[in-house]
Amino acid sequence: MKIVAVADYEEMSKVAAAYIVSTIRSSSSFSLGLATGGTPLGVYQQLIKNYQTQQTSYAHVQTFNLDEYVGLSPQDDESYHAYMNHHLFQAINIPPEQTHVPNGMAVNLEEECVRYENHLQERGGVDLQLLGIGQNGHIGFNEPGTSFASRTHVVKLTPSTLAANARYFPPSKKQPTHALTMGIATILQSKEIILLASGEKKQQAMNQLLNGHMSESVPATALRMHGAVTIVADRKALQLALAQREDYDDR
Ligand code: F6R
Repeated sequence: MKIVAVADYEEMSKVAAAYIVSTIRSSSSFSLGLATGGTPLGVYQQLIKNYQTQQTSYAHVQTFNLDEYVGLSPQDDESYHAYMNHHLFQAINIPPEQTHVPNGMAVNLEEECVRYENHLQERGGVDLQLLGIGQNGHIGFNEPGTSFASRTHVVKLTPSTLAANARYFPPSKKQPTHALTMGIATILQSKEIILLASGEKKQQAMNQLLNGHMSESVPATALRMHGAVTIVADRKALQLALAQREDYDDR
């Protein structure tokens, strides 16, 4: 894994966005895997800024989101579909039919997982996957204990994830307890992966990712099996992990 250590959230966002833009611009057909949450917001702002100033086109891009809450529709502000519309899709020239998010309102959730996974495979898989990391080491919503062989599936969110994400739900809104997520094997099939991490709260997870044992109890450690992972993380997120390592690109 390549580690790009940056100063702060802003630099993390700029470095990751610049890379995404360069790959999109150098390709005639591109499949981008997307994450939600607080971490990639700055990247999406940078992509929008770049679209407005450099006219980078997304007409040839299709996107696949990692996950979605069960029971929330694109009309729910807290759904990941609404998040993507609001924070990226509406502000760039990507045709809506080229954006894919699992359907958390599907009557048969198991069938929806199979449909999403097949849809992704039929379109040739993800070229570049953007990931955040949970405080408990999850990637997508693959919680500790998820099989490294997993494909898109339904998950019960852990108390740690529910607590970490409670801030995104107003008191009037019931927080979903389940989600649909690409599996670990699905994520590992991406040709290339960028994992973002910022802030002290990610220190433990980053230390386990970089220095701990590879284990299903820390889902992100599966990334060590992938040959093309770049970690773009700020000093606070890397503080514990880098104290023990030298193999990073110190900007
Ligand atoms: C979201 C996702 C999650 C988040 C993780 C970190 O699509 O896949 O794995 O990346 O929970 O969330 P934030 O960025 O809010 O700290």
